[in-house]
Amino acid sequence: MFAINREDHGTPAANGAPVTLTIDGAEVTVPAGTSIMRAAAAAGGAIPKLCATDTLKAFGSCRVCLVEVEGQRGYPASCTTLVAPGMKVRTESDKLQQLRKGVVELYVSDHPLNCKGCPADTHCELQSVAADLGVTSSPYGLDGANHQDAPCDSSNPYFDFNPSLCIACSRCVRACDEVQGTFALTISGRGFDSKVSASQNESFMDSECVSCGACVESCPTAALSEKGLTLVGRPQKAVTTTCAYCGVGCSFEAEVKDEQVVRMVPSREGKANRGHACVKGRFAYGYATHTDRITSPMIRAKITDPWKQVSWDEAFKHAASEFRRIQGKYGRQSVGGITSSRCSNEEVFLVQKLVRAALGTNNVDTCARVCHSPTGYGLKHTLGESSGTQAFDSVTQVDVALVIGANPTDGHPVFASRLKRRLREGAKLIVADPRAIDLVRSPHIEADYHLPLRPGTNVALINAIAHVVVTEGLVNEAFVAERCEPAPFERWRAFISDPKHSPEATADITGVAAHLVRGAARLYATGGNAAIYYGLGVTEHSQGSTMVLGIANLAMATGNIGREGVGVNPLRGQNNVQGACDMGSFPHELTGYRHLSDATTRHLFDSQWGVHLDAEPGLRIPNMFESALDGTFMGLYVHGEDIAQSDPNTQHVTAALSAMECVIVQDLFLNETAKYAHVFFPGASFLEKDGTFTNAERRISRIRQVMKPLAGLADWEATQGFARALGYDMPYTHPSQIMDEIARLTPTFTGVSYEKLDRLGSIQWPCNDEAPEGTQTMHVGEFIRGKGRFYVTEYVATEERVNARFPLILTTGRILSQYNVGAQTRRTLNSQWHDEDRLELHPHDAEERGVATGDWVGVASRAGETVLRALVSERMQPGVVFTTFHFPESGANVITTENSDWATNCPEYKVTAVQITKVQQPSDWQKRFYENNEQQLDLLRGASSSRATQ
Ligand code: SF4
Ligand code: SF4
Ligand code: SF4
Ligand code: FES
Repeated sequence: MFAINREDHGTPAANGAPVTLTIDGAEVTVPAGTSIMRAAAAAGGAIPKLCATDTLKAFGSCRVCLVEVEGQRGYPASCTTLVAPGMKVRTESDKLQQLRKGVVELYVSDHPLNCKGCPADTHCELQSVAADLGVTSSPYGLDGANHQDAPCDSSNPYFDFNPSLCIACSRCVRACDEVQGTFALTISGRGFDSKVSASQNESFMDSECVSCGACVESCPTAALSEKGLTLVGRPQKAVTTTCAYCGVGCSFEAEVKDEQVVRMVPSREGKANRGHACVKGRFAYGYATHTDRITSPMIRAKITDPWKQVSWDEAFKHAASEFRRIQGKYGRQSVGGITSSRCSNEEVFLVQKLVRAALGTNNVDTCARVCHSPTGYGLKHTLGESSGTQAFDSVTQVDVALVIGANPTDGHPVFASRLKRRLREGAKLIVADPRAIDLVRSPHIEADYHLPLRPGTNVALINAIAHVVVTEGLVNEAFVAERCEPAPFERWRAFISDPKHSPEATADITGVAAHLVRGAARLYATGGNAAIYYGLGVTEHSQGSTMVLGIANLAMATGNIGREGVGVNPLRGQNNVQGACDMGSFPHELTGYRHLSDATTRHLFDSQWGVHLDAEPGLRIPNMFESALDGTFMGLYVHGEDIAQSDPNTQHVTAALSAMECVIVQDLFLNETAKYAHVFFPGASFLEKDGTFTNAERRISRIRQVMKPLAGLADWEATQGFARALGYDMPYTHPSQIMDEIARLTPTFTGVSYEKLDRLGSIQWPCNDEAPEGTQTMHVGEFIRGKGRFYVTEYVATEERVNARFPLILTTGRILSQYNVGAQTRRTLNSQWHDEDRLELHPHDAEERGVATGDWVGVASRAGETVLRALVSERMQPGVVFTTFHFPESGANVITTENSDWATNCPEYKVTAVQITKVQQPSDWQKRFYENNEQQLDLLRGASSSRATQ
């Protein structure tokens, strides 16, 4: 059978000074701190083991790995015994063989080797150790007490726990503690009664387990086993690819049988994830083959017509003739496109190229507009580059982590596990968040400071922190003098020193007690390597860009930039937010963040593409909607993005879509936007195509095709076909050629190629002549812009105010098991954890309104009204309510307003004034939603039957 070759050295690598010892007569030199087991593996000799594995600390419970050490009495366990200079070790002798055999016979007495049909057959470690030792059965038989009748726990949708196959090695418990950091498992009882228990002896599903799968992967037998292994069968090959969910960008080996994924194994070589994964990436890939997938191109004249299934060529011709007709009637600027952070770099590049070169307009924008556009603005202005400064590995050297407006355990779970590991090693933690997110207190983690600020007051808080740094003499003067522009710094110093920014003066604005802000500021400035990790709780505000400027100011003022363990780290929400921004899909920029007004850059593209690019920026997404309602923007090509669900003020968005004459949607499913579309290009999932994603640490990683596109074409091929029908040829035969073109056109990508990606595994841009293998840490020695620039960050309160009519602030966020608009995760078994969005509110607010958990509540804002089920929670602060936005029928964006960031138009999703009332029925919008949904599904079903009769 095929098996991924994963060499297991038994215990983790050490990094001490070299130590030389003798193993079985041969000299071996290894770093001090290495176990005898690992040293023997380095020398080419494998010592049998069961409880040891090199991803976990040695435990020493199974006693299979015994060795003899000259001068020592007894038989020490090689996994827990460290090497010493001059040590002489024997790993093989009759006595050792006899002892090991005895141990394995005992295991086998409660775990008979009935391996045929077992999911672990041929890759079970007990089976192979027994075979090596010549053990085929136990002399004790199964007559005595045993665990053979212990019931199997199948509660988890993705894996089973069969205690009858458990050898109590504790690897699962240690994986949950050390790798995942959830501490959901224990070995309860002693001796014969020892057994693995989830939480308080609950089923896995009811326990604190977050289904990361680390325990399953570490289990040496099939006691913990993925259901996929029995459902699909044994894999035939593995394909290295990258998770299509969040911005951590975990690398996976997709184990495949007949173009079907058997399981996704996180890659140990993956530099973003180092062998770990979360429930989404490891398990939630079933959406790719869900029956809701649309696999035929479709067209219709009106959105009230049934869909007609057509050939790709007919769809391209129809779409092109409609866009040309619209341009003929309303002018060249009456059409545009939207690219998606869920799609590959190559696809995003092609869509913006199609819009600029084939349609002749700069009306292209990306969904990053509504999430991290302020990051681009703020970091480009202060540091000179629109990206995070570090690699995730940098967290291993962090002394103080300041997490602002991010909830990594739900949004970026694998990074959260790495951060939690560092916190358990002693790093300090400051959390600035309106909610008491899991990081504030969870097993073995407690934030040193939780700053529970009021939504919308980020800038006042960052100013207060900076005020303490400046007025208490905590500025890193040497760093600032050497690395930053002096005049802007002095302006900022004078501004921030004003007592109006002090923690005491701003406490009434932020709601955070002054002593907490002072303590947190001192810790950040003096605690060693201090790193800022932030998320959409920073950017999705009317002052999102100001807040990013403020974060960069703080990092520069304290010298926390330009080396390992520090930096400014935006945690990107979707898999390819960084890439979508890098690829030139903002209306004012070409690839690599070069403004259209730069004639040299424009002419470079003109000469490569054979066109004449406009120097004027095109429309941003909100301006497209406005222009549609004005009757001047009539055609939109939406690739992989669901604006009708994800953009604010849904009713405004759907009115704009309804006003357009041709909406083209390219997606996997009939998403909310497609219900307003006239042309549907079926998309391909990440398993069906080649390409690259760029994660939050600027790391470009390959996705590789595992199965053929269900609709016959990968997305880049469909975009090519549409361009060809428009009369503009883009003759690529493989996505690698698209990347070659990106490299030719983009100074930060000149060294990137598929060949190099295959060779190095992944590359962090900039990758060019100065950094041929990429750049792990940015701004070392000098900022990209030369000198760092401070900006004055005046706090301006949002216009979205609470009043007697709307007395509560609604803020939004994610949950671990679901992802973004939920189009993918809702079509997986992840919905067993979260099958509806709920409204979290504090017990005081609930009591005042007579609301209990489970009640239906109306949530009304100035923009609209929806109805959700309530969840009363101490995690909230009084006056603030929270919801996720993973289900379209929740209408979370029916209530969000059109307020947006002053610099980038990023919507202010995080602050909406609302009122909550107990209700008995859905909102009017929801009733219309359900009705429209049914109608559109009927029109889709009509399309299916028309093809059947063709
Ligand atoms: S799946 Fe992850 S969280 Fe759950 S018990 Fe296993 S290691 Fe712990
Ligand atoms: S479930 Fe697997 S990993 Fe956990 S103790 Fe049992 S055999 Fe070991
Ligand atoms: S942490 Fe993010 S990238 Fe990694 S497996 Fe989970 S969803 Fe995928
Ligand atoms: S492998 Fe060393 S005691 Fe189990």
